[in-house]
Amino acid sequence: MSRPIKISLTRRYRFAASHRLHRPNFSDDENQRIYGKCSSPYGHGHNYSLEVTVSGAVDPATGMVANLGDLDPFVEREVVEAFDHKYLNEEVQEFVEDVPTAENICREIHRRLKTFPAARLERVRLEETSKNSFEFDGEVGGREQRAP
Ligand code: NI
Repeated sequence: MSRPIKISLTRRYRFAASHRLHRPNFSDDENQRIYGKCSSPYGHGHNYSLEVTVSGAVDPATGMVANLGDLDPFVEREVVEAFDHKYLNEEVQEFVEDVPTAENICREIHRRLKTFPAARLERVRLEETSKNSFEFDGEVGGREQRAP
């Protein structure tokens, strides 16, 4: 039998959620300057598209790197059910404390999915609008930016 090969698998999920970009430790003027209309107190929504990439050796018995029957319910439970049709700022604990920018949503999704037991989580990619997408592979230690 030939040696197992490594394959990555990307699967797309969707959820809709609302958020407000606002930090209570910034003044109203600062929030307005930094976040613009995204700091509106009434919030606004997005239809998010999430791509989850996992990798591993192809199981010679099944011919698969990960069974979608395992991946789908895991992502549904950890992310889609937790985020879909939620006001992220108040209904997801992590964003009560941290502003739910797409960057922070990416990081939180990665944190929730990295324990997937059947394959290695390579990357999450989040599309917030048709113009914006964000990717996180779990790497830490990018050059720190000071708050403006
Ligand atoms: Ni937004």
